[in-house]
Amino acid sequence: MNKIQLTVNGSAIEPTVEPRTHLADVLRDQLDLTGTHLGCEHGVCGACTLLLDGAPARSCITLAVACAGAAVTTIEGLDEDEIAAELRVAFTREHALQCGYCTPGMIMSARDLVLRLDHADEHAIRVGLSGNLCRCTGYVGIVRAVSAVIAARRQRGIAAVIGAGRTSLGPVGSQPGAIAVAPARPAAVGIMLSGDLALGSLDPSEVMPAKSFDASFTVNAAPEQVFALFGQPRTLAACFPGATITDIPTPDRIEGAISVAIGPLSAIFRGSARIDRNAADLSGRLVGTGRDRLSRTSTSGQISWRMLPIDDGRATRVALAIGYSLSGPLAQIARDGLVRDLASRITTTFAQNCERHLNGTADPTETPEPQRLNALALLLDVARKRLTGLAQRLRGP
Ligand code: FES
Ligand code: FES
Repeated sequence: MNKIQLTVNGSAIEPTVEPRTHLADVLRDQLDLTGTHLGCEHGVCGACTLLLDGAPARSCITLAVACAGAAVTTIEGLDEDEIAAELRVAFTREHALQCGYCTPGMIMSARDLVLRLDHADEHAIRVGLSGNLCRCTGYVGIVRAVSAVIAARRQRGIAAVIGAGRTSLGPVGSQPGAIAVAPARPAAVGIMLSGDLALGSLDPSEVMPAKSFDASFTVNAAPEQVFALFGQPRTLAACFPGATITDIPTPDRIEGAISVAIGPLSAIFRGSARIDRNAADLSGRLVGTGRDRLSRTSTSGQISWRMLPIDDGRATRVALAIGYSLSGPLAQIARDGLVRDLASRITTTFAQNCERHLNGTADPTETPEPQRLNALALLLDVARKRLTGLAQRLRGP
């Protein structure tokens, strides 16, 4: 048995593995990261694809001991990744999955294409995805989804990253002895993984929410323009899926509602919020509370934002810190991962709508749809918890 050092989704770990153990088995069996799927187990189907030092690799034919020192990113590690969030929205919209078995591996390979391809070339996308087999959907929706994300990002001025951010030559994961190379050229915009930039922060003088997380998105407009948009509550509400404003009693106060759909259920949180803005550092904060009358669920939260100039001030990264507390029946089922997934979907749609408003292509009559929590994931989560509880009861104290 060998003890090896790995960084998995940003956390350093030291699993003990046999020389013959594959990386996928370590992740699934020892770390419970079952989002990495196993299909053929001999390097053909691509279901087990993950990122090794930032590059896609097949974990079913990669020996764990050969990865000592490598950084491993599984699909669970892309929860807050900007490109993965855009791909998830596009896959849903384009019906690019049915059973979903191939999807984690497909997203890994697709993310690499979004990062590297200069433009949405269908042939290049099909070649790039040819190592990922989907047994039930067909590839039309998948290719359309990947093309749409590439086209949208290039239109927003986000350049392809030459070399896909890789800094060494040689097989992925083979850190020792690899030849270091400088990045070919800096990207106009880097990828966002949580924690890679100075985000906004929650105000501790307000009631601190129970849960918090960071998010960011990129808009192809100057920071001052985006900050000004954030000062127009009605326009902003029009960009925010499911939000309506009913009244603006004072310039720093809004009243309104947000609809959220959870599978077949829907909740409408009505409430009010205070908005603080600081033009000196292009930051702001919204602090509010709301309640859904039907489910008797209450929420309170803070969202703070800061506009960070990128690409010589021609584009803006909007850094968000989001905090929320939920109490009531819906709080029982809205676990962290689902809320984050919902937030990343909302953020992606919100970013696209902001962009359309800023470049004048938004349709003023269009109202963004409320976003949905993933009902299937919700049901699976409940089933998993029940099975775990049953197993514990059977095992005894
Ligand atoms: S399970 Fe790894 S390529 Fe099929
Ligand atoms: S969605 Fe079922 S295998 Fe691809």
